[in-house]
Amino acid sequence: MKKIAVFTSGGDSPGMNACVRAVVRTAIFKELEVYGIYRGYEGMIDGEIKRLQSHSVSNIVQRGGTVLKSARSMEFKTPEGRKKAYDNLTALGIEGLVAIGGDGTFTGAKVFFEEYGIPTIGCPGTIDNDLYGTDYTIGFDTAVNTALEAIDKIRDTAAAHDRIFFIEVMGRDAGFIAVESGIGGGAEFVMVPESKTDLDHVVKSLKNLRKSKSSSIIVVAEGDDAGNAQTVMEKVKQKLNDPTKDFKVTTLGHIQRGGNPTARDRVLASRCGMSAVEGLLAGHQFHMAGVVNQEVVFTPFADCIGKTKSLIEDHLKLMKILSI
Ligand code: F6P
Repeated sequence: MKKIAVFTSGGDSPGMNACVRAVVRTAIFKELEVYGIYRGYEGMIDGEIKRLQSHSVSNIVQRGGTVLKSARSMEFKTPEGRKKAYDNLTALGIEGLVAIGGDGTFTGAKVFFEEYGIPTIGCPGTIDNDLYGTDYTIGFDTAVNTALEAIDKIRDTAAAHDRIFFIEVMGRDAGFIAVESGIGGGAEFVMVPESKTDLDHVVKSLKNLRKSKSSSIIVVAEGDDAGNAQTVMEKVKQKLNDPTKDFKVTTLGHIQRGGNPTARDRVLASRCGMSAVEGLLAGHQFHMAGVVNQEVVFTPFADCIGKTKSLIEDHLKLMKILSI
């Protein structure tokens, strides 16, 4: 293998740049030609592919977002779109790919590999932490810390006014950000898509809590089965039926996706990026390079997207015990 390309795709995550840097520099170290594909699969289809040098990735290790840009491509879901992408890659003689992204990215990579056989290694780039085959995903730690900083600030004003705050964090299908920011932020409740939310229980507990605490923080993952933070707040308010109580909603939104990556995310991103190139050279073909128990592990895309990574049971227990 002499020429490889790297791209970022789907929701960006802090640390993607550190990962791109590691891929580019490892490739050059191994005497490969390396190309950057801009705007993910969209750029692969449109031929936005440029040769990268070591200096192309200078001064990006600390930056959030992605210098290669990102997109969620509809055209790549069509056989015609994938054919155009394949033609662009073969015209440049690209023999291997590194895909940095989440489950949508790897679903695309799997189909593309099955059709055209270009070896592709994935790096887990998503704030959601919802990929099987790695303990943590690139960007998760930064996103949790961003949410936590916001929760700390909200806690100050919640306490000052004796208010009940519903704070919505990202996570359409996964509650990892909610659980870790909830534990770290001392939330009274965390609502996640993985488990059924019992609003009657929440209301009952809030009534009991009121004897010892005057304000409360409830962290709601955006994809919770009871609804988003606004919906949950309205339901709880109605059930609690206490006109003396003041309810507020804060949606943290895309602020969680930006910012300088934490040290943990930069190191994880760098390890995954380096391992992806080494994996390609070692003959891995459709795997994600993740880190499990401190060790780099290569997991087939089918498992990364097909198997569910469960929330840590101990974390859920912690939430219950510490919120009394
Ligand atoms: O997958 C990452 C993520 O940030 C999710 O947590 C969130 O639900 C989604 O992306 C938002 O996507 P978009 O920026 O396209 O609205």
